[in-house]
Amino acid sequence: MKDAVGREINYLRISVTDRCNFRCLYCMPEKGIEPKSHPDILRFEEIIEFVKAVAPLGISRVRVTGGEPLVRKGVVEFVRQLRALDGIKDISMTTNGSMLASVAEDLKKAGLDRVNISLDSLKPERFHKITRWGRLKDVLDGIEAALEADLTPVKINCVAIRGFNDDEIEDFINLTRNHPIYIRFIELMPLGETVWGTDHYLSAEEIKAEIKEELLPASAPAGAGPAVYYRVAGAIGAVGFITPISRHFCNACNRMRLTADGKLKPCLESDLELDVKTALREKRGEEELRRIFMEALSKKPVCHHMVPESGAGYLRRMWQIGG
Ligand code: 5AD
Ligand code: SF4
Repeated sequence: MKDAVGREINYLRISVTDRCNFRCLYCMPEKGIEPKSHPDILRFEEIIEFVKAVAPLGISRVRVTGGEPLVRKGVVEFVRQLRALDGIKDISMTTNGSMLASVAEDLKKAGLDRVNISLDSLKPERFHKITRWGRLKDVLDGIEAALEADLTPVKINCVAIRGFNDDEIEDFINLTRNHPIYIRFIELMPLGETVWGTDHYLSAEEIKAEIKEELLPASAPAGAGPAVYYRVAGAIGAVGFITPISRHFCNACNRMRLTADGKLKPCLESDLELDVKTALREKRGEEELRRIFMEALSKKPVCHHMVPESGAGYLRRMWQIGG
């Protein structure tokens, strides 16, 4: 299935909740959010119904995101139901990893292929500071459990922030030496409750300049998104760069997003969204769900216009979109 400018769309990101057990400084306000009330949030059965309807259009890959997907009860069973759908070949999850250790094995058994774990600091104090509530140890245990449960390739998302974690780049790279881990440095996007201004933005080129070792080109792991990968000599893992700001990848965009409250978003940055919840609740049927999907596809923006100084002026924030 192609959109209006010929991009092949096969990937759906599903936010299952806007709640999170962390309050990352670039993402959520400290006081917390006004979480959507239960009736506003799609039930798992409704999400399954939607995915079932759009799979025949060519959606073969899905990612479960949040907020933090593991705070929602029943998510393991949800993965099992996704796995049972015809046409769904790849199921991944983006999680903060803090609750992963105890469910990694169950998730794997239910049919989850792999996880991406967000981790912005390897220093316990700093980690606590950026997440406001988190404990580094929980996430490290989560990463280990993911490797053991074979939720691989395990990818780690690290938002690079000048003056905050730019002195840890080497520590992150060290993780790739002896573990099959893919560290991806992400450029800070002006999409959150960000307490960090443009002076904290760090481009991939600037990060690379900090790395003294030679970066050898590496092939991308399974399910590779927009990251470009490199390897330091002898490493089993790799290091990647995701550059939404310095070098956007809109021309290769293959995705649509479903929000927890049942809106289809053709682009992370754009405020454009189409309601699918009403069609689900009014039982308008699969054809109508596909029609809405195709309409969203036809309206998918060609490109976003984010620059570091865009400001957090968007309708929805990251915890409501799921990255
Ligand atoms: N800029 C860049 N990355 C962000 N994420 C959340 N907010 C931002 C932001 N403003 C990351 C999270 C997570 C992924 C889904 O997006 O750290 O790893
Ligand atoms: Fe939660 Fe992820 Fe936002 Fe951090 S970035 S507050 S872990 S949703």
